[in-house]
Amino acid sequence: MKGIILAGGKGTRLYPMTQVVSKQLLNVYDKPLIYYPLSTLLLADIKDILIITTSTDVDNYKKLFGNGENLGIKMSYKVQDEPNGIAEAFVIGEDFIGDDNVCLILGDNVFYGGDFVNILQEAKNIKEGGIIFAYPVANPESFGVVEFDETGKAISIEEKPKIPKSKFAVPGLYFYDNEVINIAKNLKKSARGEYEITDVNLEYLRQGKLNVKQLSRGLAWLDTGTPESILKASEFVYTIQARQGQYISCIEEIAWRRGFIDNKKLIEIGNKLKMTDYGKYILSLVGE
Ligand code: DAU
Repeated sequence: MKGIILAGGKGTRLYPMTQVVSKQLLNVYDKPLIYYPLSTLLLADIKDILIITTSTDVDNYKKLFGNGENLGIKMSYKVQDEPNGIAEAFVIGEDFIGDDNVCLILGDNVFYGGDFVNILQEAKNIKEGGIIFAYPVANPESFGVVEFDETGKAISIEEKPKIPKSKFAVPGLYFYDNEVINIAKNLKKSARGEYEITDVNLEYLRQGKLNVKQLSRGLAWLDTGTPESILKASEFVYTIQARQGQYISCIEEIAWRRGFIDNKKLIEIGNKLKMTDYGKYILSLVGE
């Protein structure tokens, strides 16, 4: 299974913050936003990862992650020239995906919760079709919205409907079989001029191959679309970390716990950052 993080877009809704900095490099409390979706892929044991971003931002991501060696993974980069839509990720990523299945996560999606690893590990084993998730929100009209029948089977998916048919939003985390490349290549642009991920999901739904899993209320899926929601996400991360003394989305910790890097590498990274609480936390792990 390959992993793609889509971290492009113009971030216009966050100007002036994002005038010269990519949205996914802004901080959520103590780390760049992209650490959070990257953690999700690492927790799924996905070690071959493509970051898709803009031509102006790609060098910053390369500076941050290099070839991925520090995390015991393989990191590649591709440019999306214009924000033509989320589904374009599978066309840009065609060679990278090759014959594999693929997991796409949007670079601004933050997940946190106890059972999440099991959910990811199960989804990663997808054989055929697509898996998307459904999460109850107070403002479904701001998202892709999925509607179920009494048995829990999906009956409709709509992108930002004015009158939502349910309160279940579709988070920016998708698992697909290799067929997604063909589906994405055959899409037409929507009325707002984008290749919509919702149209990919609708095609799988039409073929009877879309599996929708409801995420429990115990799992946090946080929004980072506005200055206020970034602040709230930062407060959330701060509160949990301060209370538990355990970090959310410390990518080095995850890489180490999942056996991608050894103690020596962890200490090397921790030492470079030891003037910060983040670095001290990394170093404290080794003595556990
Ligand atoms: O967050 C989940 C939602 O994400 C889903 O419920 C929706 O179905 C899906 O369309 C998407 O909605 P958004 O309104 O949040 O999409 P947005 O245009 O903000 O793009 C999400 C991220 O993907 C954003 O960080 C920028 C990046 N992006 C977006 C587009 C359209 C790209 O890198 N390239 C693009 O072409």
